[in-house]
Amino acid sequence: MEKLVISGGTPLHGTIPISGAKNAALPLMCTCLLTEDKVTLENLPRLADITTLTDLLNHLGVTVTIEGGRGGMLTGRSLTFDAHTINDTVAPYDIVRKMRASILVLGPLVARMGEATVSLPGGCAIGNRPIDLHLKALEALGAKIEMEQGYVRATAAGGLKGGRVRFPFVSVGATENILMAAALAKGTTTIENAAREPEIVDLAKCLNAMGARITGAGHETITVEGVEKLHGCTHAVMPDRIEAGSYAVAALMTRGDLLLEGAKADDMQATLDTLTEAGGIVSVEDGSVRVKANGHVQGFNVVTQPFPGFATDMQAQFMALACVADGASVITEAIFENRFMHVSELTRLGANITVKGSTATVRGTQKLKGAPVMATDLRASMGLALAGLVAAGETTVNRLYHLDRGYERLEEKLKAVGARIERMPG
Ligand code: EPZ
Repeated sequence: MEKLVISGGTPLHGTIPISGAKNAALPLMCTCLLTEDKVTLENLPRLADITTLTDLLNHLGVTVTIEGGRGGMLTGRSLTFDAHTINDTVAPYDIVRKMRASILVLGPLVARMGEATVSLPGGCAIGNRPIDLHLKALEALGAKIEMEQGYVRATAAGGLKGGRVRFPFVSVGATENILMAAALAKGTTTIENAAREPEIVDLAKCLNAMGARITGAGHETITVEGVEKLHGCTHAVMPDRIEAGSYAVAALMTRGDLLLEGAKADDMQATLDTLTEAGGIVSVEDGSVRVKANGHVQGFNVVTQPFPGFATDMQAQFMALACVADGASVITEAIFENRFMHVSELTRLGANITVKGSTATVRGTQKLKGAPVMATDLRASMGLALAGLVAAGETTVNRLYHLDRGYERLEEKLKAVGARIERMPG
């Protein structure tokens, strides 16, 4: 398996182009199932998760063709998804187990075809990740839900009907699934306690461009007036706020100065506020975000929350920052039950971290030392890579496939701003 070999200690300076957002692209790709027309998505990142979902869509009968990119700020790829004929409504275990976001085909499939059978995604490293909220929401729209041999089967003979969905707590994926399903339901659906992430707003923008009638995306209550049919559209994927946040942390950790090209400050305000609290100098420069170190990093406190709170997907990266801050930081993971697996690996680099339940206390040190470390999940791997950028000597991050799921051309982007980093065969 490939690994990253990083020699720490170089401040990073320059510009990093931010790719299209993985967590926007995945639900956006599923919208093609809602229409017989073509959906073209621009600025798609080249990531393993995108490839996995493309494989699943192909399996269902969707034709995917590569369009020429528009170049310029939109450095990503453009793909056209044609779901004119769906010849299978089963999402098989061997694809779904590779990426749990495959569950996002459930809502669109049952809305368009009246039925869908999707393998239960199973848990992953950061938690058991149930889908009960997705299923209850679909039942509120009249779907019948059955479980059989590790698969969930949703049927809605005569189509879905608009209804009232009220989430007991915020779920990004469940909000996305029901938003797509409600677009084709007969009548009006209200989604209360909806996720407010920018990726939800991006998805609603695309669905409305396809003829859906969605209002309130980005707020607590979303209203969807179902329509008979949706047509195709062309939609550019929003920039990746978590990729941008990850490199913003790199700028502060390495005492450097980075321009995150195309990053949208409004999408990452909690991240930028915490960076400022830790001593970073943050500015917005013509459609990009710039983060500059000012010589020292001080400890900070964060609790992960749904948007607009501090993102759980930034927790591991900020823990790496806390390892090299002056003083102590307190980091509480309130979204997932097992998202501290980077702690033991950071400790191998000399970090001083104590965990009590869902709270980690980090005592900063200037003496991180390079060592071989093991990636366990996507964002934990980024936390380890960031620590390697400042640790003295060489850090090897193994099991690179975790990183390749969410960071496009990571070593290329970091090398271009001065990092000493190589991708090596395992
Ligand atoms: C999305 O996952 C993201 N993935 C995750 O990013 C992100 O960490 C998460 O939202 C929270 O922001 C994609 O968008 C593809 P949730 P999702 O439903 O939708 C529990 C990354 O690193 N829950 O908001 O699965 C769940 O277990 C990934 O890019 C239920 O109990 O997250 C968790 O504790 C990791 N029942 C909490 O809710 C359900 O039916 C939030 O999960 C659904 C969720």
